[in-house]
Amino acid sequence: MKGTISNKNLKDAKENKKDEFYTQLADIEKELKNYTEHFKGKTILCNCDDPRVSNFFHYFAYNFEKLKLKKLITTCYKNQDETLFTQNKSEKAIYLEYYGDKNGNKIPDAEEIGIQHLEKDGDFRSDECIELLKQSDIIVTNPPFSLFREYVAQLIEYNKKFLIIGNLNAITYKDIFKLIKEQQLWLGKSIHSGDREFGVPEDYPLTAAGSRIDNDGKKYIRVKGVRWFSNLDYTERHEELILYKQYNSTNYPKYDNYDAINVDKTKEIPMDYDKAIGVPITFLDKYNPEQFNVIALGIVGSIEFNADKAMEILDKNGEPTGKYTRNAKGTLYRAYNPKTDKIPAFKDLETGNLYSSIYARVIIKRVNSYGNRTK
Ligand SMILES: C[S@@+](CC[C@H](N)C(=O)[O-])C[C@H]1O[C@@H](n2cnc3c(N)ncnc32)[C@H](O)[C@@H]1O
Repeated sequence: MKGTISNKNLKDAKENKKDEFYTQLADIEKELKNYTEHFKGKTILCNCDDPRVSNFFHYFAYNFEKLKLKKLITTCYKNQDETLFTQNKSEKAIYLEYYGDKNGNKIPDAEEIGIQHLEKDGDFRSDECIELLKQSDIIVTNPPFSLFREYVAQLIEYNKKFLIIGNLNAITYKDIFKLIKEQQLWLGKSIHSGDREFGVPEDYPLTAAGSRIDNDGKKYIRVKGVRWFSNLDYTERHEELILYKQYNSTNYPKYDNYDAINVDKTKEIPMDYDKAIGVPITFLDKYNPEQFNVIALGIVGSIEFNADKAMEILDKNGEPTGKYTRNAKGTLYRAYNPKTDKIPAFKDLETGNLYSSIYARVIIKRVNSYGNRTK
């Protein structure tokens, strides 16, 4: 039993470390430069930050005058287990308030940065951090990924503007997807593919490809699927996605359990199809709300399947496993096409027909029917 607990602790510790990825200044600059108009005269809060190591603090403090900010607040979380997170070692949780340059050297000097102690540990959910949140207009940070849902829920509850970094997977969380659908949250401008580098704690294992240690001994890893999430508007998200493919029923088969056609690549969305279309979640990188409505996520719980076939699950070689499912484990599916699909994933128990399941789809529909387009 003792062994089980310590294994769990180890696993938790590893998961917690994933919350300690430090954003690079270049990535912050590339995104934040698109929102200068939004920042003017505003109080900015970075509430999952350690100003001693945070590039968010660095960016706002050094650009305070240029951005015409009113105030910058940064709160620092004091981890319970400081042996794990050497970057955050401190006697007490702290926060700071910065009102800009006073002595004319355009540099945020120590005496201009008002460092104060927090009573508690600096958890963004604590009363004192919520008080600071209430005083702020725009929240900008990279919050701990394990608390992403809760973090966003709090921003929405307090009706705050925000620009935060997270993982594309978060789109498939029910509550995050609901915000996307309701136009209360969208993806930022600068990251739409590839991976990004993050700083990690000293004891983080550098096993992944692209990891490195710099000349000062600081460790870095590369992370895939990174995206900015925001409710600050920018021009490009209103640009029409140019489409050139024409619909035909052979190239765009429907799912068997939902009335929508399937599209595997965003650029292949047919320009002349007015009904429901299932697209990969990376469609949201190009999503213009004036062109398409987001209707649902293509998984059980978000859409209602109109078929309920009992099927045998096939293994990665297409061989029977003796295990069974309904609705392809709760995803969209369609008839297996040997020309386009590598291996069938399911076999109908009654008919023996083969099926391919289609994961991670967002269901969309044109705002204006093709014939009545305004543009
Ligand atoms: C992904 S890191 C990002 C740090 C920094 N914002 C950056 O991008 O460089 C998330 C930070 O949130 C802190 N954190 C973890 N749990 C927290 C909580 N409950 N409240 C506030 N901060 C928390 C972590 O210690 C860590 O410093």
